[in-house]
Amino acid sequence: MEFTSKIKTIEWIENTSRMIDQTQLPHRFTTVDILTCDDMYSAIKNMIVRGAPAIGIAGAHGISLAAIEIAKITNDVNEFLKLLTQKAEYLKSARPTAVNLMWAIDKQMQIATSTLSTVSGIVNAVIKNGKKMELDDIEINKKMGNFGAQIVPKGATILTHCNAGALATVGYGTALGVVRSAYAKDPTIKVFANETRPRQQGARLTTFELTTDGIDTTLITDAMCSYFMKKKMIDLVIVGADRIASNGDTANKIGTYTVAICAKHHNIPFYIAAPLSTIDPNIKSGEEITIEERSCEEVTTINNEKICPEGVKIINPSFDITPNELISGIITEAGILRPNYQTSIAEALSIK
Ligand code: MRU
Repeated sequence: MEFTSKIKTIEWIENTSRMIDQTQLPHRFTTVDILTCDDMYSAIKNMIVRGAPAIGIAGAHGISLAAIEIAKITNDVNEFLKLLTQKAEYLKSARPTAVNLMWAIDKQMQIATSTLSTVSGIVNAVIKNGKKMELDDIEINKKMGNFGAQIVPKGATILTHCNAGALATVGYGTALGVVRSAYAKDPTIKVFANETRPRQQGARLTTFELTTDGIDTTLITDAMCSYFMKKKMIDLVIVGADRIASNGDTANKIGTYTVAICAKHHNIPFYIAAPLSTIDPNIKSGEEITIEERSCEEVTTINNEKICPEGVKIINPSFDITPNELISGIITEAGILRPNYQTSIAEALSIK
């Protein structure tokens, strides 16, 4: 049986990028139509769309929107490409950690610069490629899901952190794609979802999409994971990734590193599920990954209510780095990569 998730996080429809507004979930299921590149920048920055692969597709659509806009200003190919390159750099700066954003924008710019045609020919080429990348994303997740399902024991309880689901991709999901594929074979599996302070992607999004699909899901706060691991209530951990260095060090939502340390201590396998586009071959280790710092308000307020005294010092890194020695395997569309990651990643990228 193949499991189909009904969620389509982002979709190109008639020169518009339509996306689910994730800031409103789980209370309101609404979509937003993005019509300009600048609005796409804001949608990514303000996390209307979030999750590394979904941000990538948003970046690709952003280039399509920019191309349509610039074609209204100039017919000169050189001038067009100069202005498109400026928009590409601007879009890339919306969120610095998820490498899928840079990857997708670079792919679109390769199409733009290698299409030896008129401005309107280039516009059509990037629109077509943006749509293709969107459709490919779901297929990649399904492949990843099938590989990942092989490492899920019968009746397992899987702990996950943040949201690496259909909502973090175009559809199906990475870590939650593995959950979906495992569930299709064995509906007795269960998920524990970490709440994921400060933006609560686990509480708001992971529980929303898994319970909608009828998958047995228990919400816990982030600090509870070691308690349940000690009680032998967690069989394995599967999380997503925002950027993987060529040695396997992995950036993911803040708190992932803590989960990985707890898993190691309790001898629980810890897996990353991510497409090859999340691997950054240009960096040797996690030390080179830029960690996004987000606003203090994310920490000082819950549901618009201040939870701390005025004037307290705040620091809010949005991601952390899990060192490769804590990672049991990296589930990709090319199979499950194992240590030594330097070698297995290089091999996977060479056959991509
Ligand atoms: O800040 P977010 O919500 O964009 O962070 C998302 C994550 O950290 C996900 O785990 C990661 O992007 C993988 S999504 C398949």
